[in-house]
Amino acid sequence: MEIKPNQPIVPIAIHPTIFVIFGITGDLANRKLLPALLSLYVKKLLPPRFAIVGFSRRSFSREEFRELVRSKMNIQRGQFNEEDIKHFLDHVSYEQGFFNSAVAYSRLAEKLKSIDDNWGQCSNKLFHLSVPPNLYEGILNDLAKSGLTLSCDDRSGWTRILIEKPFGNDIHTAKSLDKLLGRLFKEEQIFRIDHYLAKEALQNILAFRFDNPLFESLWNNKHIDKVHIKLYEKIGVDGRGSFYDPIGALKDVGQNHMLQMLALVAMNQPKSLKANDIRKERLMILKSLKKIAPKQILTNVARGQYSGYLTEAGVAPTSNTETYFRIKTYIENPKWKGVPFYLENGKAFDESKTEIDIYFKVGKGHSLMNKKVNGEIALEGQNILTFRIQPDEGIKIKFFVKTPGQGFDIEPKTLKFKYSDVSSFSVVKNDYERLIQDAFTGDQTLFASTGEIMASWEFVTPILENLNKLPLIIYEKGAKEVV
Ligand code: BG6
Repeated sequence: MEIKPNQPIVPIAIHPTIFVIFGITGDLANRKLLPALLSLYVKKLLPPRFAIVGFSRRSFSREEFRELVRSKMNIQRGQFNEEDIKHFLDHVSYEQGFFNSAVAYSRLAEKLKSIDDNWGQCSNKLFHLSVPPNLYEGILNDLAKSGLTLSCDDRSGWTRILIEKPFGNDIHTAKSLDKLLGRLFKEEQIFRIDHYLAKEALQNILAFRFDNPLFESLWNNKHIDKVHIKLYEKIGVDGRGSFYDPIGALKDVGQNHMLQMLALVAMNQPKSLKANDIRKERLMILKSLKKIAPKQILTNVARGQYSGYLTEAGVAPTSNTETYFRIKTYIENPKWKGVPFYLENGKAFDESKTEIDIYFKVGKGHSLMNKKVNGEIALEGQNILTFRIQPDEGIKIKFFVKTPGQGFDIEPKTLKFKYSDVSSFSVVKNDYERLIQDAFTGDQTLFASTGEIMASWEFVTPILENLNKLPLIIYEKGAKEVV
């Protein structure tokens, strides 16, 4: 096949595959998984022979199930044509069963076998756990007992497991879940999802850093003053109170998405673009994070809760769960010594935005000039490089220019690149599409390794253990910041 310049090589899964979704009637399946599978189907990026089998507690007729999937799948009107949706739904079927019933797993195994018999081939099996994390252990054990974790053939037909965060509840439960997974699967079969890793603008951080020596040569504590990673969300718990309340912001997005963003900003250049090399470098950073000692908790961590949270459905009326946190931490290696990294997440903010600001140290020249910002002498004359992860993906650089005319006043200006300004960049792929496709083709780069998960918990657990020593700041819905 001739490859034209700029034409991406998209690996396509070919071998027949069955995608089994545990908890197919839930929020995640409707919001993310099924729309992503539909989109991959329409783009012809799924194997020619594929089936989706949903497994859940409620019982439905075939038609009722089809109708339920059609109506609940989160797609925009007109986004896909009705014929495509209809054909896609022909690949989706359902098996009713309780997650702790051995009989149900045998029925599921029979169903998968009948699909294989029909195809005359031992297919690949991808199991996705779209269920509350407290059900993982039971499901994994029952899957193993039913023989479904094993391939049906020595030569073809792998089995893989896709597992959502939170992976465990602290370092101890994470270790025991990991042990169980390790007993049932090999590492190359386990795909631990952190969907932030699949965000296009986040992946770009590595390309931006390592393909632009202009910046990478300044990427260290001599030139960088501080790094601020923000994940602000306009929505509150949005109907997910019963999932969120026992977890809180730090476990929901801190232990995973935010630490992965930090790792991408700070990691060294990997030896190659292979999954293992990239994961190894991310891990080095996560392992080097300075643990926050109990006596530093008051100075390095803050937590908050938005006003009105206690009346959200599924939230305990006296809950102390944080919907906001701010952490100041350091990386203990020579390159980053002394550079604070701030991690900040909040729900019910005035706007949704995920951004990483890299603040450069003030240059010597600055102290010789009058820096004016909005007519005032500015105290901070820092260059700031901003990675805008979402929405409005892009990159922004704040720099200073001389105000034309007499004197030597300086004022800030911005250089901007927006994905939406470039037509081929404006189609930013849905993160779950990318993850599913990579799980089909076996590429683990955008999935967290066991080491990364453990290192993240090692960092977060001491904070969690001391969180209740912190005052819970109540902030208004729609806040711009929490002080
Ligand atoms: C999920 C969290 O992992 O990430 C949610 O459970 C959060 O609480 C979401 O809203 C944010 O992801 P995204 O892709 O919408 O930024």
